[in-house]
Amino acid sequence: MDIPVTDNVLTKVKGKVIVLTGGAQGIGGTLVKTSYTAGAHLFVGDWDAEKGEALAASLRADKEASANGGSVTFLRVDVTNYKSQLALFEAAIAAHGHIDTAVPFAAAGEPRGFFEPDALTIESLQQEPTAIRDRLELNVLSVVYFCRIALAYMRNPSPEAAQRAFDAKEPMPRSIVLMSSLAGIGENPGVPIYNASKHAITGLLRSFAPYTPTRYNVRVNAMCPSATNTRMIDSITGAWVAAGLPLNEPEDVVRFILLCATDEHRNGNAVYISGGKGVDIEEGYLRTMPQWMGEQHTTELAAKRVFSGLGDGWV
Ligand SMILES: NC(=O)c1ccc[n+]([C@@H]2O[C@H](COP(=O)([O-])OP(=O)(O)OC[C@H]3O[C@@H](n4cnc5c(N)ncnc54)[C@H](O)[C@@H]3O)[C@@H](O)[C@H]2O)c1
Repeated sequence: MDIPVTDNVLTKVKGKVIVLTGGAQGIGGTLVKTSYTAGAHLFVGDWDAEKGEALAASLRADKEASANGGSVTFLRVDVTNYKSQLALFEAAIAAHGHIDTAVPFAAAGEPRGFFEPDALTIESLQQEPTAIRDRLELNVLSVVYFCRIALAYMRNPSPEAAQRAFDAKEPMPRSIVLMSSLAGIGENPGVPIYNASKHAITGLLRSFAPYTPTRYNVRVNAMCPSATNTRMIDSITGAWVAAGLPLNEPEDVVRFILLCATDEHRNGNAVYISGGKGVDIEEGYLRTMPQWMGEQHTTELAAKRVFSGLGDGWV
């Protein structure tokens, strides 16, 4: 069932401290513009300093966009450099003492030339395909590092107090919104490395969703957008639209990000977004499990989950 969302969600962003990477353009850049205009305080990291600085300067110079008291700090960040990401969070903490929302946008598409029939030859094996490792470092490792830093700054310092707050169903203002993809929930035969990296992000969501709210009072949700009109998909946008397939605008994705960020009870959603509409894949995945896995496997899996608990006892 579609998740209802409107631009009203922007009214909840005023005064929030948001840390994000990959915010110089694309979906992240759109979140910077809309949230700044709504009065949020943004800490934006991107390795494209020219675009990032230009975006920040244009917002500060825009009287109308600045009317709600928003602020934006841009830092040149290479997310594959741990200290570089850390500096972004430290800047937000130094200025505001806390962080409300953290979104790791920075990623890139498929590194070509490794699995295509012409490229996959015995001769090619002599060369280590380091571009694959680099892409996994960008799309997966940098996000894991980002989340670890974010959780350390956003957590309730006491796990016991966090558990009590969770049990009492208290609202949780702090959250991470992960960027998975359509490629994180299904097949994409032509882009195996990107697909594996986005499935990793969905895996991160599934691991964090039962854990970080109870231990740290930090919620985690993920976006799984289908094709979204940014430069990342420039090479296919025309053909996609010509085929009659629904295209998201970056604003569509931003609306669901901000909904997940500001709805203080929303956790564990993996929001598939297509043509501006969003549906929670995780809800359907869990609800229909007996239909596709069978009753016995579903019951046993539930028992295994109870046995495993939060996994704290594992060696
Ligand atoms: N556009 C789509 O169709 C689509 C669909 C599903 C998911 N996504 C995901 O949404 C997120 C944003 O995608 P987008 O379409 O806005 O992409 P984009 O290419 O427009 O923006 C990505 C940003 O990340 C930055 N970046 C790349 N490598 C970096 C690094 N090492 N350090 C710091 N910054 C770096 C780029 O400079 C750029 O500003 C990505 O995680 C992407 O996988 C996009």
